[in-house]
Amino acid sequence: MTQDELKQAVADAALAYIQPRLESETILGIGTGSTANLFIDALARIKGQINGTVASSEDSAQRLKSHGIPVYELNTVDQVDFYVDGADESNRALQLIKGGGAALTREKIVSAVAHEFICIADESKLVHTLGEFPLPVEVIPMARSHVARELVKLGGDPIYREGVVTDNGNVILDVYNFSIAQPLSIEGKINNITGVVTNGLFALRPADVLFLGTNEGVKALYAQ
Ligand code: 5RP
Repeated sequence: MTQDELKQAVADAALAYIQPRLESETILGIGTGSTANLFIDALARIKGQINGTVASSEDSAQRLKSHGIPVYELNTVDQVDFYVDGADESNRALQLIKGGGAALTREKIVSAVAHEFICIADESKLVHTLGEFPLPVEVIPMARSHVARELVKLGGDPIYREGVVTDNGNVILDVYNFSIAQPLSIEGKINNITGVVTNGLFALRPADVLFLGTNEGVKALYAQ
C-alpha cells in the first residue's frame, strides 16, 4: 500500500472507532495535516451525528467549514470528547513529536482539553526513540536567537523555519540531531525557556490510542 492509502486506512479506522460513541452533543477536536485532512473528509459523511468541532489550525477550520461541518471557538464549548490528529513520530508509549505543519500549539491546547486523544499515522511514524524528526518549537519572534542558544545548550541544533509564521503570529525553530530518550523531562525543560510558546513533544499529554497503518492492516496501540 502507498503511504496515502495507509493514511486513508487510519482515517477510516478512527471514524469507525468513534462513530458508535457519538452523541448529538459530541464535540470533536480536529488536528492538522494530510492525515487529519483525510479524517475531515471522512467525517463529512456523518456530520449530522455530531454537534460540531474545534479546529487546531485555520487550515483545518476552513476545510471543515467547506464540508458544512460546524467549527466552534474552544472557549465557547464545555468539553471536547475526542481529539483526532496525525503525528510526525510516535514511540510505543504514544508520546509524540508533532508540529511538522507548524500547528503544534493549538494542537497541544485542543488535545489537553480532549477526553480522548486518537492519533492516526502510517507505520513510518513509529520509532523506538523520538528525535529523528526535528523537534518543532514555537517561539515569540523577538526571542528567536535567545531560544536557539538555549536549545544548543540542551544538545540540539536549532534551525529557523524560514518563511513560516504560525496561526498565533510566532516563528518555528526545528531542533535537529536531538535524540529524546526522556521526553517528559525534555518537554518541560524546553517549555521553561523564556520566549518559548510550546514545543512539539506530546509526552505530558500523550495519545490514548494510536491507529497505525501497516501493510498488514490497521493496528491499534494503546498507551501503557
Ligand atoms: C501538524 C502536525 C501533523 O499532525 C504532523 O505534521 C503529521 O502530518 P501528516 O499527517 O501530514 O503526516 O503535527 O502540525
